[in-house]
Amino acid sequence: MYLTKEEERMLNGEYGKGVEKAMRILVTLGDIYNAEKMIPISSAQISGISYKSIGDAGTEFLEDFANSGVKVRVTATMNPAGMDLEDWKKMGIPEDFAKNQLRIINALTKMGVIPIPSCTPYFHGFYPRFNEHVAWAESSAVAFVNSVIGARTNREGGPSALAAAITGRTPYYGLHIKENRAPKVAFKVNTNLVGILDFSLLGYFIGLTAKKEIPFIYGVKEASAEELRSLGAGMASSGGIPMFHMDNITPESKDFEVPGEVIEVESKELEDVREKITTSEDVDLVALGCPHLTIKEIMNYYNFFKNHPPKHKVWLCTSRPVKEFFKNQGIVIELEKLNVLVVADTCMVVAPLEEMGIKSIGLDSTKAAHYSRNLSKLKVKLGKLEEII
Ligand code: F3S
Repeated sequence: MYLTKEEERMLNGEYGKGVEKAMRILVTLGDIYNAEKMIPISSAQISGISYKSIGDAGTEFLEDFANSGVKVRVTATMNPAGMDLEDWKKMGIPEDFAKNQLRIINALTKMGVIPIPSCTPYFHGFYPRFNEHVAWAESSAVAFVNSVIGARTNREGGPSALAAAITGRTPYYGLHIKENRAPKVAFKVNTNLVGILDFSLLGYFIGLTAKKEIPFIYGVKEASAEELRSLGAGMASSGGIPMFHMDNITPESKDFEVPGEVIEVESKELEDVREKITTSEDVDLVALGCPHLTIKEIMNYYNFFKNHPPKHKVWLCTSRPVKEFFKNQGIVIELEKLNVLVVADTCMVVAPLEEMGIKSIGLDSTKAAHYSRNLSKLKVKLGKLEEII
């Protein structure tokens, strides 16, 4: 792979051991994917930061990096951690888990990563522009920035996103190259999609059906940013799909030929997905916000819960800036009185629910349902808010 003089200096250790190690990770990755060169990136988003996901080995890996004195060169944000960094006791997080989680946050912060753990950084100020090259790792955010914004990123792993943040570079392959962003299979949606669960179900169905190819979706008349976020999260979780095009809605939808192979989607396909994922009628906890909720969504939930106090404990998962807004309005306290906890910095998947005695969970997100079943081994009830509450 061609390296500039500066990149060679990084690889040769002239900027210290941490930078050398980061560049080596990227060169190895570039060699695997036959990248011809490195390209500069403007931001990185680093996943795998929950103690539940990376354990002691991952924590030590990050601490070694941080102790080498290395700093990130570009704006870098972090994915959700395993707990609300302030209100973890209210969540019922075990003390040992909290201690280890804080070690991870401290290591990343020491390297200059912005300590706002969230899977939707694009909703609170970290918004790349069209065609900008970035290195993001959270799969739902990857789908959003590629598809909805038209920025370019491969689906990075935690270590490669960190290496990209440290060097400000990523290997030039995959979705950084325009022709690799062409859709290969079309989905014609013949049913009216109402609310984020429908978009999430459609995404999950596409992920199961598209066999890792980029889909072109048509028949959807309108979609909000939140609905597109949930669509991308669904297809990333069931099929690892890093981007989609939606006719008349996403910015690159007119740039390629529409694929000849068309798969029709009726409401039955979506209902089948919902039924297949659901494994429980009872729930110990209802958790909303996969991916993280926006201000608009929490405001809607607040208005709903005021008139329909929930029977179960409810978590609303979101980012720190959004939670702070509701704290300042006095709404976090009001919701707590209704048994609804606004939980920042974390989510129902990366928090250690299984260690906290939770056995079944009510969700309105296929991504959360997928990982709650497969990773946390919980029973799942998937439905619209009125159905799971
Ligand atoms: Fe975000 Fe957690 Fe879902 S990281 S996308 S809320 S699984």
